[in-house]
Amino acid sequence: MVDIAKIASFCKRRGIVFPSSEIYGGLAGFYDYGPIGIEMINNIKAEWWKEIVHKNQNIVGINGAIITHPKVWEASGHTEEFIDFVVECEKCKSKFRADHLLEDAGIKVGELDASKLNELIKKNKIVCPKCKGKLGEVKEFNLMFKTKVGPGEGETTYLRPETAQLIYLNFKNIVETSRQKVPFGIAQIGKAFRNEISPRNFLFRMREFEQMEMQFFVRKEDADKFFEEWKEKRLEWYSKIGINKKNLRIREHEKGELAHYAKRAVDIEYKFDFGWKEIEGIHNRGDWDLSRHEQFSGKDLKFFDEETKSKFIPWIIETSAGLDRIFLAILVDAYHEEEVKGEKRVVLKISPKIAAYKVAVFPLVNKDGLPEKAREVFKLVSGCYPTFYDEKGSIGRRYRRMDEIGTPFCVTIDHQTLEDNTVTVRDRDTMEQKRVKIDDLLSELYKSLNLYS
Ligand code: GLY
Repeated sequence: MVDIAKIASFCKRRGIVFPSSEIYGGLAGFYDYGPIGIEMINNIKAEWWKEIVHKNQNIVGINGAIITHPKVWEASGHTEEFIDFVVECEKCKSKFRADHLLEDAGIKVGELDASKLNELIKKNKIVCPKCKGKLGEVKEFNLMFKTKVGPGEGETTYLRPETAQLIYLNFKNIVETSRQKVPFGIAQIGKAFRNEISPRNFLFRMREFEQMEMQFFVRKEDADKFFEEWKEKRLEWYSKIGINKKNLRIREHEKGELAHYAKRAVDIEYKFDFGWKEIEGIHNRGDWDLSRHEQFSGKDLKFFDEETKSKFIPWIIETSAGLDRIFLAILVDAYHEEEVKGEKRVVLKISPKIAAYKVAVFPLVNKDGLPEKAREVFKLVSGCYPTFYDEKGSIGRRYRRMDEIGTPFCVTIDHQTLEDNTVTVRDRDTMEQKRVKIDDLLSELYKSLNLYS
């Protein structure tokens, strides 16, 4: 399995992902997507939106604000509960997550407070992993980023640490305007922010990241049924976007690791080189969120059932996917190094649905009227599919560049094209080429790309 450092340098080299603020030395936990990466990210979002919103008549989308009223986070429990435990080295002043230090030393940590973690660190004689210095006291650390709204001192609030709350805030608006009835869902894709103590593993643990979340509102008695249903549906989706099933598993949370809002939780985990790690969480959040918002806002957030003439607070089944983590899993899963005719070939065997470009068009040589013909073919294909055009350098090099970014098909215009209006279509994975009439090219690509299943 390819290691994450290799993927990070590959991403930078190929314009997929760059460290953010790089000319100033970077900022830990922040990354920027480049020209190839942003296309892939947009494709993952589109596939998720199609699966969750467009294919389900009882799920609608929203796009909520990143900055909200500060009371939202009191009600949600994040002001009080959204904490990690930090410990500082007295010598080099590096800061670490206390539970990570213990886990790295092979000590399993459940639901413990700062003083218990402190005892464990002392008892196991854990020292600073960087300089072997003595560690200070374990302290609580709230992960939310504070900000000020308005001029002067302004009012303190937070950048949202999860997109979910914006959905709960709009629950009443959606019920009143979209004619949805329980059970129904609200979906959202957007940025979330967590001031992680130790961001690590490239895109895996970032401070600014993107979530794809769906909150499904149900009756209490149906919560278990919908939890199971969404668990299965979400796992299945990863095969649809090309991730190998054998690298995925479901893991149930133990009591001690449940988030403050969760009655039950499972993680969909991917097998990275640094271990099985969560890429999506499915949570039964009970009536925690809507009840708390009702209590803190004083507004009635109950659902009125026209049929039974009864009012109730729905329970919530949440599917919460980490977009950047899924992107990383797709890359790791698809990255292959092969030997072809004595040379190394790097190929990204990603699903055509996720690939930045679906097709590349090349003239075999940059003369003899081939570029003019190739540009005609580019115009035809790019009207239907994101297409890359390249007429510079050897044809072998041009194929390799497309293999590296996972372009499924390369169409080459050669001298025979000028005689019989046929082109070659090369398959990324098998590297086999077949001749296709230009008149049939779009329908051939449509069949082979299979984008709409
Ligand atoms: N909304 C759940 C989470 O952010 O993990």
